[in-house]
Amino acid sequence: MALIVWKDAMSVGNDALDDDHIVVASLINHIDDAKQSGTDEHAVGRILRVLVDHAFTHFAREEALLEQRGYPRLAEHKREHRLVEEQLQELCQAYARTADPELSREIMQILYFWLVEHIMKVDMHYKSFLDPELASDDEHQTSSRS
Ligand SMILES: [Fe+2]
Ligand SMILES: [Fe+2]
Repeated sequence: MALIVWKDAMSVGNDALDDDHIVVASLINHIDDAKQSGTDEHAVGRILRVLVDHAFTHFAREEALLEQRGYPRLAEHKREHRLVEEQLQELCQAYARTADPELSREIMQILYFWLVEHIMKVDMHYKSFLDPELASDDEHQTSSRS
């Protein structure tokens, strides 16, 4: 799995939310390093728990901020978060029963996909809403003014 290097193009225009995304990226990289250097699965599992907890905390923080600002596509955005949460919860429960290295890899892959795809596509939708000056998407500039 390729390492994730956070860059300005990934910024959603809010420091707290960017910080969360950076922490998630760093933890994914950390687990990837641990796995590649043959770290035992118990240690991998501990880092994974921190990563999943942080992802869930981030969803809540992001949703609270978007709600506070009256983001019009919040329901849709929440549904995306719930889908990832359900997948993660199911895999984490299985992993808690059996610390199978394949399961931890699968959990990481979901988070990797979420970080790369969800941030770049779904989170970017609210960037222009939070700050129209950062907008690159006319549709959301319009909705933020209405
Ligand atoms: Fe996010
Ligand atoms: Fe999100």
